[in-house]
Amino acid sequence: MGTVGREIIGPEADKIIDLLNQGIAAEVNDAYRYLLLSRYAAGIYSRPVAELFERTSQHEWGHVALLMDRVTQLGGDPMLAPAEAGERSYVAYQPPPKDPADVRGMVRDSLAGERAAIRFYRNLYDVAREVDPVTAQIARDALADEIDDEDELERLLAGWHE
Ligand SMILES: [Fe+2]
Ligand SMILES: [Fe+2]
Repeated sequence: MGTVGREIIGPEADKIIDLLNQGIAAEVNDAYRYLLLSRYAAGIYSRPVAELFERTSQHEWGHVALLMDRVTQLGGDPMLAPAEAGERSYVAYQPPPKDPADVRGMVRDSLAGERAAIRFYRNLYDVAREVDPVTAQIARDALADEIDDEDELERLLAGWHE
């Protein structure tokens, strides 16, 4: 699929497919984790934060879809099983804190994940920019989304002392 679409990328195509799959793995983990947290969080701060977690989960699933589309366009296989996500992700999965009322801890851990995503998409953009403008555009759009996520979480944490 995407015969000339892949041809124009040249020898970098496999490297880009590999990076896209690292992104899929991380986004699957993120999407699952945010959805989990939206159900797991408890305590007086939990309601609005749970809504944010659920909304963010949907955005991260959207990233999974974008990256999958690009891998198939390039003739590659998107990560074939979610069980591979732990190994293929560029960042380790962060399980929720033991205490479901530690909502602040959940937000703090999520912030670390968003920052890792920002660095990942920045790098993907750099790798793709010259050879694969379509992937570069996806990386740029996702980068903007992750920066938005970071900003939202930072605002939530600002002045939140327990
Ligand atoms: Fe994402
Ligand atoms: Fe994000």
